[in-house]
Amino acid sequence: MSDDRVVIFDTTLRDGEQSPGASLSIAEKLEIAHQLAVLGVDIIEAGFPVSSPAQFEATRLVAERVSGPTIAALARASGGDIEAAGKAVAAAQKKRIHTFIATSPVHMEHKLKKSADEVLKMAVEAVKLAGQFVEDIEFSPEDACRSEMPFLIEILTAVIEAGATTLNIPDTVGYVLPYEYGRIIAQLKSDVPGIDRCVISTHCHNDLGMAVANSLAGVRNGARQVECTVNGLGERAGNAALEEVVMSIHTRPDFFSARSGQEPLRTNINTKEIFRTSQLVSQLTGFVIQPNKAIVGANAFAHEAGIHVDGILKERRTYEIMTPETIGLGGSRMVLGRHTGRHGFVDRCRQLGYKLSEQEIEHAYQRFVEIADKKKEVFDEDLAAIINEEIHVVEHVYELEYLHVASGTGTLPTASVKIRVQGETKLAAAFGDGPVDAAYEAIREATGLSPKLERYSIRAITGGKEALGEATVKIVGNGRTFVGRGISTDIIEASAKAYVDAVNRMAAARGMGEQASLKGEV
Ligand code: KIV
Ligand code: ZN
Repeated sequence: MSDDRVVIFDTTLRDGEQSPGASLSIAEKLEIAHQLAVLGVDIIEAGFPVSSPAQFEATRLVAERVSGPTIAALARASGGDIEAAGKAVAAAQKKRIHTFIATSPVHMEHKLKKSADEVLKMAVEAVKLAGQFVEDIEFSPEDACRSEMPFLIEILTAVIEAGATTLNIPDTVGYVLPYEYGRIIAQLKSDVPGIDRCVISTHCHNDLGMAVANSLAGVRNGARQVECTVNGLGERAGNAALEEVVMSIHTRPDFFSARSGQEPLRTNINTKEIFRTSQLVSQLTGFVIQPNKAIVGANAFAHEAGIHVDGILKERRTYEIMTPETIGLGGSRMVLGRHTGRHGFVDRCRQLGYKLSEQEIEHAYQRFVEIADKKKEVFDEDLAAIINEEIHVVEHVYELEYLHVASGTGTLPTASVKIRVQGETKLAAAFGDGPVDAAYEAIREATGLSPKLERYSIRAITGGKEALGEATVKIVGNGRTFVGRGISTDIIEASAKAYVDAVNRMAAARGMGEQASLKGEV
């Protein structure tokens, strides 16, 4: 591979999914993997197959069905893990096993209870075993940045001899600062014999908010693979955010080049797919993007201060270092409304890059008409929310037919609902701490289900008093997490829809036949 290309290794489905509360179903993982392929990532780390049957199955299906990127599976340095990883990725056109073992004194002594010699032997054996399944082998010395440099050099030298092709240097606990991380990469590049035959990779966590800066410092010092996640999802404070790494390299070609005076570094990412991918991951995980998040936050391209707006109108470059179009945000900001016909609606969907089936178009259009009736202007962001809502439907075991909520100062918030359950209408009324709580209590009463509400959030999709509100809830039932979403110009209705959507997902996961036994279990 040429020296000016930075390989993007996406670990949203593995490290990202390890975020507390970010659990995804197999179908959702597949959907994200397909979008990652459209985005143009080079490698998708699809899972940690030995850790559970669902992880194995998700990895196997991604390997079987997603073409384009290399499909990687994670494995500890042990026979069982590597065999499971090898089997899970077997069907992929391009496959990789990513094996790791901790190398820092604190991990080796307290977690592994092994000497450095034992760790080195296990690493070499793991890489050799991985070679029986794949040619493309990545090795990670976990907690590399708190490991002793001589041992790091020794173990990396040994795994190269054993057949490793990518050497990943994780800052597992997000401890180092950019200058230090860059220096570690530079020293390994100069002191590990045979490293020129391998790709050096970065894997930085964000505990001190340095994940992206550290990854880029690694790139400046010779790393040519960056491990990252969409929206920076990941354990604790997350991993390096893919969109920030990619757009930094894209926006600063003057800073990122293989050698001075040479071609700038580049990635294979189709930056126009960044926004859509970010929205999809946020919707399916239920992790709402903070408005001021770099690149993909709602305010990332918004200008409000008078001086800034004036500058932008005179010349965009005054306050904009990249354009919203580059990440796939509709540049023309075309507005649809109640007079937009089906043809205009379908046309705009196509322009925004959605490839919908006839049935999906039909559902989405019906929903669009309902919303356009209440809201004069329907923006691209609204359209994206409508389409996502209609595409990600599961079978509606429970349908919200009617909702009435009364609340106000000095009034006990009360709600009454009608829910259709397999042809039968159930009525319920309840009160709560607030209107949303009352609505949820009434829904619980009507469905006979009471999953724990773990998270609730509401956001305005676009600005203005007629903005469409999107509610996201996360519920826990039977030890599993389900995310539900609802959109409406009325935020209480959006909240109720989100809750019913999550309950439907829970029901779908159990299968229709098990509905009776679901009652009372959650
Ligand atoms: O953070 C880490 O060290 C990891 C390894 C498994 C690569 O995720
Ligand atoms: Zn990690």
